Amino acid sequence: MVTGGTGYIGSHTTVELQNAGYEVIIVDNLSNSSRDVLDGIEKITGIRPIFEQFDLMEGDKVDSFFSKYPKIEAIIHFAASKAVGESVEKPLLYYRNNLVSLINILESQLKYGVSNIVFSSSCTVYGQPDQLPVTESTPRKDAESPYGNTKRVNEDILHDTIAANPQIKGIALRYFNPVGAHPSALIGELPLGIPANLVPFITQTAAGLRSELKVFGNDYNTVDGSAVRDYINVVDLAKAHVVAVNRLLENKSKAGYEIFNLGTGSGVSVLEAVNAFEVATGVKLNYKIVGRRAGDIEKIWADTTFANEELGWKAETGIEETMLSAWRWEKKLRGIE
Ligand code: NAD
Ligand code: WQD
Repeated sequence: MVTGGTGYIGSHTTVELQNAGYEVIIVDNLSNSSRDVLDGIEKITGIRPIFEQFDLMEGDKVDSFFSKYPKIEAIIHFAASKAVGESVEKPLLYYRNNLVSLINILESQLKYGVSNIVFSSSCTVYGQPDQLPVTESTPRKDAESPYGNTKRVNEDILHDTIAANPQIKGIALRYFNPVGAHPSALIGELPLGIPANLVPFITQTAAGLRSELKVFGNDYNTVDGSAVRDYINVVDLAKAHVVAVNRLLENKSKAGYEIFNLGTGSGVSVLEAVNAFEVATGVKLNYKIVGRRAGDIEKIWADTTFANEELGWKAETGIEETMLSAWRWEKKLRGIE
């Protein structure tokens, strides 16, 4: 079961799961994605995943789903509301969706005896860490946004539920900044409205939808003054989910509840990201340096030692190749040759 499977990361993960031989059932309410994504997945893999459209906040529907599919072996729970700014405006929507959906899934998991769950967490739980890079044992900080707080509380819900019910095993994956698209350009990120995230803003600017990219701040204590993040290729990220599911199904977990950082291990500044885009695509980007964005941290990147050694997984795609994949996807969406 892949919740949020027509979304950005869920669709890329469905492709990798199907390539690895798993049979995937997607659950999505299409609140932030489109049914057409199923066509892209089918074109890439030759297999159309089973699709069930409903809202995970509706507990009776979640229950009926598990009774309809009694052979589910593992759940990957991507479905959530994820826009940081919107979560500040509409905290209750975020708390309801992100907490109730997970609770409904866990209740059904216990009832129907599904042992394994992988959860989409985020590096946002670290806030601005005191030491870099961040390991999985770096202390979490108070969340900067209701969205971030839902990830922290979701992790706690998972931890406590597994502690009380050792028949369930779980893995929380803390993603750093997922970017890029499938190399086929048949699936990718589909931001609604004006993108808040850097890479979709870059590609939309290059495509002429936005007049210029605003670089938020050049007075940070970083290599060139712009903020630093760990940009992880979405296909590399998707592959880590296959490894996590294998680990659960093969009983290789070292504890009932495990946490892994998923990043590249390297920090890239905003200006370096812009440069990587220009070098990879040959397209010149119109950008302007403006003031810092409220709520932004200065720098973060992952220590990936634990994921590399324990999962045997490593991010492989470089930032330029990733930028090129994002650009190919944007061109495909806009019909640019
Ligand atoms: P996305 O919005 O593209 O995908 C989420 C999907 O979940 C969407 O298709 C949406 O329609 C669906 N959904 C939302 N609420 C639902 C509900 N109540 N019932 C059924 N379906 C529902 O987001 P994404 O970027 O693919 O993110 C996937 C997960 O990864 C999320 O949990 C997100 O918080 C987490 N994450 C994302 C990032 C990122 O930068 N993209 C970073 C860290 C963590
Ligand atoms: C990256 C860098 C911006 C847009 C967010 C969430 C986080 C996680 C990942 C889910 C920052 C700069 C951006 C622009 C810019 N999501 N920027 N101009 O803020 O690291 O993280 O997505 O869990 O929780 O907060 O990602 O892509 O928004 O920004 O200069 O137009 O690009 O200031 O330094 P962020 P982002």
